[in-house]
Amino acid sequence: MSLMIGVVVAIATFVPLAEARAFFVFGDSLVDNGNNNYLATTARADNPPYGIDYPTRRPTGRFSNGLNIPDYISRQLGSEPTLPYLSPELTGQRLLVGANFASAGIGILNDTGIQFINIIRMYRQLDYFEQYQSRVTALIGAQRARQLVNGALILITVGGNDFVNNYYLVPFSARSRQFSLPDYVRYVISEYKKLLTRLYDLGARRVLVTGTGPMGCVPAELALRSSNGQCSAELQRAASLYNPQLTEMLGQLNNQYGADIFIAANTRQMANDFVSNPGAYGFVTSKIACCGQGPYNGIGLCTPASNLCPNRDLYAFWDPFHPSQKANGLIVRQFMTGDTTYMNPMNLSTILALDSRT
Ligand SMILES: *[C@@H]1O[C@H](CO)[C@@H](O)[C@H](O)[C@H]1NC(C)=O
Ligand SMILES: *[C@@H]1O[C@H](CO)[C@@H](O)[C@H](O)[C@H]1NC(C)=O
Repeated sequence: MSLMIGVVVAIATFVPLAEARAFFVFGDSLVDNGNNNYLATTARADNPPYGIDYPTRRPTGRFSNGLNIPDYISRQLGSEPTLPYLSPELTGQRLLVGANFASAGIGILNDTGIQFINIIRMYRQLDYFEQYQSRVTALIGAQRARQLVNGALILITVGGNDFVNNYYLVPFSARSRQFSLPDYVRYVISEYKKLLTRLYDLGARRVLVTGTGPMGCVPAELALRSSNGQCSAELQRAASLYNPQLTEMLGQLNNQYGADIFIAANTRQMANDFVSNPGAYGFVTSKIACCGQGPYNGIGLCTPASNLCPNRDLYAFWDPFHPSQKANGLIVRQFMTGDTTYMNPMNLSTILALDSRT
């Protein structure tokens, strides 16, 4: 009997952690798993009630009451959640699961989120990805490290802050004096293309790229810009200019590389579904945040002193900007099974099936 237990324990210990494909995450607060906990910045989610529905019931740095979008994708891959790249726990075999480089507050442009001071801007996230690859090379050799990166799934979620925390941050912002909105959108997309090209050069071969959500409809914008509960027309206009150009740019890159490297995830449509018909998804509201204060609970930050709803699953928005755990799960369900309106050119189920055959 004790021998059998010994064998079982030995097998469990020697199963490599990284049988599933590796997963890498880049971007902003929608996908940050806690990197900003290690930085001197105000853009952080390390106080209660953040994490109130996380398995540990404690804040982790995720901008959610519980799981976020990367966590639900890790589950689909059969992996542990990715650790923040700055976590001291990210060493040895754990590196082979992947890593999360995202940092709340950042945008495509370097001048986005300057008010948050010390955050990991996109070019730096990519520098860290390069550094990560040297660390993995030291662990398993150059050839296997290259295979791990080429075979990985990657998620990148960035762009919303280039509007909310840059162009529209203050009236007469520097960028809004420099560019008309259509010109700004073109500029942001051209800078994004450079970042994605560098990601490809660093070995990325399957990249889910999310568009911006319905930025004008988040509780923060309803509180700031709406008198009657209607979504902010300006931010909705920005989203409707940006998202189609993003999809088009991804298509250009795929043509250039001759493969479906970049997959456009239409998160605007996904979120619009429950913003326009919350009841159909089991929500009582998509206008009022669960945690916050002021109109729509949309003013300021979610803190221990904020209003807090008793049942988070009834709210599409957890805080003034971020979806609830329940909404994150619904979004990833569309990643998995959505048709081409949602996932272009294909959904994640199709990708996982395709890639497991090669
Ligand atoms: C952002 O800053 C980095 C480092 O200074 C620089 O290499 C990069 O070109 C900058 N990107 C933009 C869009 O200005
Ligand atoms: C994924 O996308 C394909 C093609 O659009 C579709 O046929 C399929 O039903 C979707 N869902 C799943 C689970 O594959």
